[in-house]
Amino acid sequence: MVDLNKTLLTATKLLLIFALSVTLFGVLLYPRVLAQKIVPTYYTDVQPIFEKNCVSCHVKGGIAPFVLDNPKEAVARAERIVQVTQSDYMPPYPPGKDSQPFLNERRLGVASKQILADWAKAGAPLGTAPKK
Ligand code: HEC
Repeated sequence: MVDLNKTLLTATKLLLIFALSVTLFGVLLYPRVLAQKIVPTYYTDVQPIFEKNCVSCHVKGGIAPFVLDNPKEAVARAERIVQVTQSDYMPPYPPGKDSQPFLNERRLGVASKQILADWAKAGAPLGTAPKK
């Protein structure tokens, strides 16, 4: 005959072990999984932002005094890049914040600014270069 008490006890134990595993995963692993995702890298996150918003001027022969189309230049200027993007000094957009919206506004979105800031804060990691 099946001992109901024993079965219940085993079920309770199993449930406890399961709950403990879930909690352990949550406490120990999940923050790491999250942290890995949050740190932006040059190749994955930053280069596309420069490509779209900066390289039109920051290119060899362009009007800006240095290029932003290679990782070395970008990493060397990470801190300054954060300052000038947070303050909206770059990309230059003379109409300013209070102007009417125009087509093709040259403004950096909040999300892009945050990516640049997080990247610099993490020490401007390069990440993995895409295969050519
Ligand atoms: C329309 C052209 C143009 C675009 C687009 C542009 N820049 Fe610039 N940038 C310049 C010029 C010109 C200078 C030099 C004059 C100056 O500092 O104002 C400059 C200077 C800078 C400096 C040095 C500023 C200082 O005072 O130390 C940084 C850093 C910079 N740009 C970053 C960026 C980033 C990042 C982007 C894209 C998000 C960007 N720029 C987009 C034209 C541009």
